[in-house]
Amino acid sequence: MGSAQGRGWQLGAAAEIGGVLQVPGDKSISHRALLFLAIAEGGGEIRGLLEARDCLNTLAALRALGARIDSLGPGSYRVVGPAGGGLRAPDKPLDLGNSGTGLRLLTGLLAGLNLPASLTGDASLCRRPMGRIVDPLNAMGAAIRAEDGRPPLHLASHEGLQGIDYAMPVASAQVKSAILLAGLHARGETRVREPAPTRDHSERMLAGLGADIEWGQGEVRLRPGGLRGQDIDVPADFSSAAFFVALAAARPGAEICLRQVGINPTRDGLLRLLKRMGAAVGLENQRLVGGEPVADIRVTGQPLEAITVSAEEVALAVDEIPALMIAAARARGTTHVEGAAELRVKESDRIAAMAEGLQAMGLSVETRPDGLSVTGGPIRGGRIASRGDHRIAMSFAMLGALLPAGEQLRIDDVDNVATSFPDFIARCKAVGVNIQES
Ligand code: S3P
Repeated sequence: MGSAQGRGWQLGAAAEIGGVLQVPGDKSISHRALLFLAIAEGGGEIRGLLEARDCLNTLAALRALGARIDSLGPGSYRVVGPAGGGLRAPDKPLDLGNSGTGLRLLTGLLAGLNLPASLTGDASLCRRPMGRIVDPLNAMGAAIRAEDGRPPLHLASHEGLQGIDYAMPVASAQVKSAILLAGLHARGETRVREPAPTRDHSERMLAGLGADIEWGQGEVRLRPGGLRGQDIDVPADFSSAAFFVALAAARPGAEICLRQVGINPTRDGLLRLLKRMGAAVGLENQRLVGGEPVADIRVTGQPLEAITVSAEEVALAVDEIPALMIAAARARGTTHVEGAAELRVKESDRIAAMAEGLQAMGLSVETRPDGLSVTGGPIRGGRIASRGDHRIAMSFAMLGALLPAGEQLRIDDVDNVATSFPDFIARCKAVGVNIQES
């Protein structure tokens, strides 16, 4: 049933937590597979694509640019650029919905191809900062206009791009990837330096598709050139697995095994943080899939101790800080997160959203412009505003599963969970989470 707040969930104490799960495909890798194959000679097949709203918006945008993308079965697609030529300018604005990755990477790609276009998104995306991509892309020679530094973005045609040597002011894989995509079609070398390591999926996939690229020691160098198509297997999304990892970690005695999850070291920071808190985390069946490390993650809950998380650690767990807060809520002592100002410009202001929700559940929380501190303790039920943010909704669902008997938690406005995690409710029920839609 709908309400003024959109659809919601009702959570109650879970009798027992445990089981084996496979979560859907990686969102970051799915976006990149679609975007890169659409400009790669011969195209390729994607297996395990995340069929969630964010990636489907990117898929639709690429179709509007003339790419041919055929479904071959669940999660399987064949992507081929337009026959006999490159992508073409779209005749309507491209709507990337809720997705920062879709909008920022596509802007880099379009700037490189010199295709005039307008890109927009939903209310959340239209509040997010775009100067971080517009400035370096325009410095390369693009002609992008943003209204007040935010979407919609308007790309006009330009005289050609020049490679850039760019030191990013923020640690952002989206900014890095947008510049690299533009650099594929620029004159001369493009070099991007990062203030802290961020996810390197673009670098790995570009190398796999034959780009002239090298990276390490905090910088990437790319020389222009075409890509050669190849089939791409997408591992399960670490960021989706993270909710269940945190749930098992925060409940002594619980054991959950997540199958075939991407454990790229630029993504799996949460595991190191939870281990430091005392959780038992094991990796099984480790292997490489399409240039990305993959493993089954087995987590066994133990009593946890609070930790301090540094800015560098935040960059390697940037989407998992809400899930980490679940563990912090159940840990002994006060967990401090530092250098996390980026969390304020995600799908919602995640520092404010987590603080508000944790306080509503009876916990003591302090916020700062670039972080928060959470003191573990007893939790109670109540009502949580997810602010339309998928990761806030899913994190609080996990904390709801840890409620004492008799307590109930309502989470409002959960529609956007469909942007990243189809069938989240079924996965919750499979490991014993007591969750109902309402
Ligand atoms: C992403 C990078 C991160 C992350 C986002 C996905 C990507 O954003 O938060 O969910 O796919 O490159 P930033 O680059 O803004 O840190």
